[in-house]
Amino acid sequence: MRYLLIMILAFSASSFAQTDEQRAAIADRIKSFSNVCVAGDDCGGAAIADSAVAALPGEAKYAGCAACHGPNGGGGIGPQLAGRDADYIVGRLTAYRANETVGAQSALMWGQAAALSDDDIQDLAAYVTGF
Ligand code: HEC
Repeated sequence: MRYLLIMILAFSASSFAQTDEQRAAIADRIKSFSNVCVAGDDCGGAAIADSAVAALPGEAKYAGCAACHGPNGGGGIGPQLAGRDADYIVGRLTAYRANETVGAQSALMWGQAAALSDDDIQDLAAYVTGF
């Protein structure tokens, strides 16, 4: 009986063993979901370094926002941004940058907006209104 159990365990262990290649493929697949990119972080493809932010157009600055607001502003963890006008976006981002509470989840946006300059906010608003 104990021998049978060991056989079963050994068999299942070997059939679930993964090669490094398989592990890398899995890590690659789940990466985009496990990686919340905050302004100032290296966000993989589009690096948003503090010093580089001012030089990037709105599209690149939006790279870290897409995880929560969707690549086309359709919403997700964060509300839909598509359809909002620039003044609205600027007003919200300015409020979040000042750590003001807008909705129940404003704390999620404080860190996002903290490092944004006025120009960043204008660029982001211009990009978002283009959705
Ligand atoms: C970790 C997820 C997350 C990321 C990343 C994120 N947001 Fe948000 N965002 C939220 C949530 C959640 C709210 C709602 C906050 C509240 O309750 O006040 C929000 C709210 C907003 C609003 C106000 C929307 C409304 O309808 O009032 C704007 C504008 C906005 N985000 C823009 C951005 C921009 C631009 C970025 C990138 C610099 C960004 N967000 C990154 C989650 C996120």
